[in-house]
Amino acid sequence: MQELSMNILDIAENSVAANATLVQITLNGQTAQKLLTLTIQDNGKGMSQELVQRVTDPFCTSRTTRKVGLGLPFLKMAAQLTGGDMYIQSTVGVGTCVTATFTLGHIDLMPLGDVAGTVTTLIQCNPQVDFIYTLTVNSQSFCTDTRQLREILGDVPLSTPQVALFIKEYIEENSAELYTGLLNI
Ligand SMILES: Nc1ncnc2c1ncn2[C@@H]1O[C@H](COP(=O)(O)OP(=O)(O)OP(=O)(O)O)[C@@H](O)[C@H]1O
Ligand SMILES: [Mg+2]
Repeated sequence: MQELSMNILDIAENSVAANATLVQITLNGQTAQKLLTLTIQDNGKGMSQELVQRVTDPFCTSRTTRKVGLGLPFLKMAAQLTGGDMYIQSTVGVGTCVTATFTLGHIDLMPLGDVAGTVTTLIQCNPQVDFIYTLTVNSQSFCTDTRQLREILGDVPLSTPQVALFIKEYIEENSAELYTGLLNI
């Protein structure tokens, strides 16, 4: 996975698979500290501590009886390559929060990719789930919340192609300047 947006898609899909009804994706860049923090928080079924251990370090265990995925290990590796890290806080029956930190300006920091497209795809493909996407760069912030969009749209589903296109452009327009701030390190 060469773009952060693909990692976001994978981790958010884990939340959807865990039956979350609300998934909060936040990207927070603090340029003075050269710190980019990604968090994906959900109210899904959660994970036991044993599972948290196993999915964070799948290659540390000799057990091969159960398939382990690569989404979380990839994100952890991507974060560590930049001098950051990834950790998971999870409670069974309550939800999960995955946090990854990256060093802004680091040569191994992968490009963000199409985050607006990723968030839009998640919204369009999972009509039963609400998503909140918040982008913060230094003191400036932008937030998209499907609960608010649903209120404005009334009976029009979020998966309507015109609505999806609108959401994507809306996120793109509001993020453009913030992204520029992130890249000018
Ligand atoms: N948000 C979450 N809530 C509950 N369980 C989770 C969550 N995220 C991950 N898991 C558990 O951790 C496992 C590993 O996740 P990971 O993304 O690394 O791999 P995967 O989703 O199984 O496969 P892949 O992402 O490679 O297609 C999942 O199969 C699931 O059991
Ligand atoms: Mg996964």
